[in-house]
Amino acid sequence: MAKINRRQFIALGAAGIGTALVVHWLRQDIFSQPLASLSANAVPVYQSGDGLLELDLEAKENPINLAGRQAYLLTYNGQIPAPRLEAKPGDKVRIHFTNNLSQPTNIHYHGLHIPVTGNGDNVFLHIKPGEKLTYEFQIPSNHPAGTFWYHPHLHGLVAEQLFGGLAGLFIVRGELDEIPKVKAAKEEFLVLQDFALDDNGRLINSAHMSLMMGREGDIITANGQVNPSLSLPEQGVLRLRILNASPSRFYRLSLENHSFYQIATDGGALNEPIEVNELLLTPGQRAEVLIKGDKEPRQYRLLNLPYDRGGMGMMGGGMMGRNNRDEPTVIATISYEDQGQSLSIPTKLASIFSLPEPQTVRRFELNHGMNPAVGMAFLINGEAYNHDRLDTQVQLDTVEDWEITNTGMMDHPFHVHNNAFQVISRNSQPESLLAWRDTVLVPRGETVRIRIPFRDFAGKTVYHCHILDHEDLGMMGNLMINA
Ligand code: C2O
Ligand code: CU
Ligand code: CU
Repeated sequence: MAKINRRQFIALGAAGIGTALVVHWLRQDIFSQPLASLSANAVPVYQSGDGLLELDLEAKENPINLAGRQAYLLTYNGQIPAPRLEAKPGDKVRIHFTNNLSQPTNIHYHGLHIPVTGNGDNVFLHIKPGEKLTYEFQIPSNHPAGTFWYHPHLHGLVAEQLFGGLAGLFIVRGELDEIPKVKAAKEEFLVLQDFALDDNGRLINSAHMSLMMGREGDIITANGQVNPSLSLPEQGVLRLRILNASPSRFYRLSLENHSFYQIATDGGALNEPIEVNELLLTPGQRAEVLIKGDKEPRQYRLLNLPYDRGGMGMMGGGMMGRNNRDEPTVIATISYEDQGQSLSIPTKLASIFSLPEPQTVRRFELNHGMNPAVGMAFLINGEAYNHDRLDTQVQLDTVEDWEITNTGMMDHPFHVHNNAFQVISRNSQPESLLAWRDTVLVPRGETVRIRIPFRDFAGKTVYHCHILDHEDLGMMGNLMINA
């Protein structure tokens, strides 16, 4: 396959719909063998130019070819996953958004450190069917490079709309991307989504999903495809930027015969790569890994290994979700290609410093239970989300420790909007890895302590469980950052 440069590659991406259809049509003919010659990454890309990223974005139901059949999904600009947006620190972003769904919606820019008010990352906006809104914000010039994303965030409809397919990457390119050994690596993106369709290719209605467990679908896709093919340059390095865009499914990834050199978490670069054999991504989390092409040149499967995230136990016999408890599934197939120069893994990536001691320590308890107002609900400190209540008030330019305890029977990935945090300890064991995150897994029965600096932007935002059915069923709080 001829080498294509970045510009040609983007042009190829713009023909995304056509390519995706061809891929599926061919795939049926060759019995689900992945195609080594086609990029799994035929997703349209919008990049900023002259300091501005500007685009039209339309949410609408659209027929899509999914897993070899016609599906009616919820899309941004007709695409699954949504177009990838790319900008740089300091850039202005202007998104002319139209809601052509049959429900109200809005857009959240997950992980971006931008204003939470006005037409910025404001999750309290309510865009009715047929309405338009222009999102407008500037990415701070000191914003870290990283793999961020965008998705709907209208409380009560978040899980349903994400499960319909509404999710896309928002990449900030900066320092990490300029490190020569990172820059020289072959870059690919993996957006992981799962879907559940009925016989007519319609999304299975929420009423028929196990919401307590968090809905999972049996069609698992990467970049909108079942088991796409990726290539790894022989003796070279592949950089994979992975997003878990599923509303509830956890991915525990492992590549046959290879380890991952993780170079970034949710909030951007680590100080140095860490070698791991598997990577657990809860909903909302991202990771960037480098993979060395130094094994026998053949095909290897990227697997999703079993993971038990708990359940309702005695309380909900019939409500068990479709956990990937027992069998590994194949997410993608990685084949060697012999077009690489010989490359190695970088040693130094970033300089993350420990945060200063906190001014305030708060405690949060996650559990589910009966709530007089709503029945069975998911609770933080005993309360289900109330739009009108301010749960937590913090002062801008301070640092806080939040100690989050999960006393329930299911794992909860805890997410804070707008400011990235560092994990300080897990079950009182100090955390040795310095990393910026915005979503951290709090396994059932465990306690995680995080340290958050509230910087730059005052206003009201939220924190919540990123199993989005739990969020919709109450496991969210309003956070007021006071100036
Ligand atoms: Cu992915 Cu409240 O966010
Ligand atoms: Cu978020
Ligand atoms: Cu949860």
